[in-house]
Amino acid sequence: MADILIRPAQPGDGAAMSAYVSRLVAEKLDTILLNHEISPEEEDAVIARFAADDRSVFLLAFDADRVVGMLDIRGHDHPAKRHWGSFGMSVDRDWRGRGVGRRLLERGIEIARGWPGYCRLELGVTPWNTGAIALYESLSFVHEGIKRKGINLRGAPEDDLLMALVW
Ligand SMILES: CC(C)(COP(=O)(O)OP(=O)(O)OC[C@H]1O[C@@H](n2cnc3c(N)ncnc32)[C@H](O)[C@@H]1OP(=O)(O)O)[C@@H](O)C(=O)NCCC(=O)NCCS
Repeated sequence: MADILIRPAQPGDGAAMSAYVSRLVAEKLDTILLNHEISPEEEDAVIARFAADDRSVFLLAFDADRVVGMLDIRGHDHPAKRHWGSFGMSVDRDWRGRGVGRRLLERGIEIARGWPGYCRLELGVTPWNTGAIALYESLSFVHEGIKRKGINLRGAPEDDLLMALVW
């Protein structure tokens, strides 16, 4: 894959993140919850929030100075849940199917495995997002359950799939 750089978001990335999110939101995907634009200033605040949390990370994939993928792992503050986190991810339309998502997730897992005591990553994924499910399965995520009528992204409540990786 040509020169895709993957690294945690840093101060100054807000504008590139905002532009990426605008392209993503314009697609009106029926597989993600993000449905509104985020300003560069708001993204800068997100970067600062993630940087201050030692059990969360916001990873970006760059094609030169253009953000082409995102993966954010959000940990928990509560002592009973500090050993796991939830994540979400996406890749720019032009880059899908070219290995960026796999690299992002592999890096995210590697980072999370380095956090002391951390042993679980989970996410909700729409059952019709078969490409994403194949990616998660290929990295040993398992189907843990169905959240019945847990998501409404296509005009009516539908079942959502819960997947997780533990180690
Ligand atoms: C899901 C998503 C993040 C995957 O990223 P990607 O860069 O396209 O994925 P990759 O090219 O790294 O593919 C990794 C694996 O995913 C699976 N996969 C990806 N796209 C697929 C498709 N259209 N059909 C079947 N499998 C697919 C394959 O198992 C693939 O394995 P391979 O590496 O052996 O080919 C990306 O398609 C995306 O942004 N989709 C829209 C937003 C979204 O749905 N996010 C996930 C919400 S849970």
